Amino acid sequence: MTTGDRMAAMPENRRNASGAEAEDEGAPTASSTPSRSVLVTGGNGSLGRVLRGALPTLGWQVRTLDLGEPAGAASDAVVGSITDLDTMRRASAGMDAVVHLGGIASPDAGWDEALEVNIHGTRTVLEAARLERVERVVLASSNHAVGYQARGSDDLPADVRVRPDSFYGISKAALEALGSFYADEYGLEVTALRIGQCQERPSDLRALAIWLSFPDFVRLTHAALVSPWSGFSTVWGVSRNTQRWWSLDAGERIGFHPEDDAEIYASDFTGDQPRHVGGTAPPYGADQAG
Ligand SMILES: NC(=O)c1ccc[n+]([C@@H]2O[C@H](COP(=O)([O-])OP(=O)(O)OC[C@H]3O[C@@H](n4cnc5c(N)ncnc54)[C@H](O)[C@@H]3O)[C@@H](O)[C@H]2O)c1
Repeated sequence: MTTGDRMAAMPENRRNASGAEAEDEGAPTASSTPSRSVLVTGGNGSLGRVLRGALPTLGWQVRTLDLGEPAGAASDAVVGSITDLDTMRRASAGMDAVVHLGGIASPDAGWDEALEVNIHGTRTVLEAARLERVERVVLASSNHAVGYQARGSDDLPADVRVRPDSFYGISKAALEALGSFYADEYGLEVTALRIGQCQERPSDLRALAIWLSFPDFVRLTHAALVSPWSGFSTVWGVSRNTQRWWSLDAGERIGFHPEDDAEIYASDFTGDQPRHVGGTAPPYGADQAG
């Protein structure tokens, strides 16, 4: 799917004079996109299940890939590892886009699994996309890629210095670097979603600032899939939370306009918000913003 195809697929009323999506749109609807195919890695996981349910209602034909069979109704599913190039090529063949969610999702991941599954796995996903001529890849990054960043006086931009707080965070910083490289070197269109906490509802005080609701996660992924922009970009995956301190600017540039606010759960939690992106301060190192 070329950028021209993607723009042609958008109704006129979703585009402004420069071809960008209109600012006043609501949630995406099925009529806003043609039927396109997308591979979702990690399709059996918590966010994969959200996309399996939502993307078909937005006009996407979804194929999933995961280590095991998906539960529930029969679906287009490939069983295998993101670290295996043959498997990834087979899964990616004929796809218009890939959403890469698969891997180790824990900040407690050890180095070996972070390296093999998250770093080598992401490189394999991108390499398979390149070889199979998939034009667009959306990568699930994490706030832990910049977890040791401290809060400043302004909202934190998405292009802040890489400052991982764990081996998991390093693997997500590498994921972003790999996406940038494949965009620059091979012309893939890549968006890295630097997700805060994406759960049905916020689980702790910190999440009042960093929560990404499931509907906003769908809005974000859909925006990254259909945006007329090309190249590489990193955007914060965060809802329009009252206590948010991560900038929405980069997301808005790709057409992500979050609607939910964790504040409706504020009475569930008390205390002071952590001052660092990942929730803890670095034991060493300057505690400056930027
Ligand atoms: N949920 C969040 O709050 C959150 C926050 C930040 C980043 N993320 C990122 O979003 C992505 C999805 O998160 P999630 O919450 O759905 O995680 P999850 O653990 O629920 O799902 C991950 C899926 O990846 C699969 N997987 C693991 N290794 C694999 C391999 N080698 N090959 C193929 N599949 C493999 C697992 O079987 C699982 O189904 C992850 O990359 C995670 O790091 C999530």
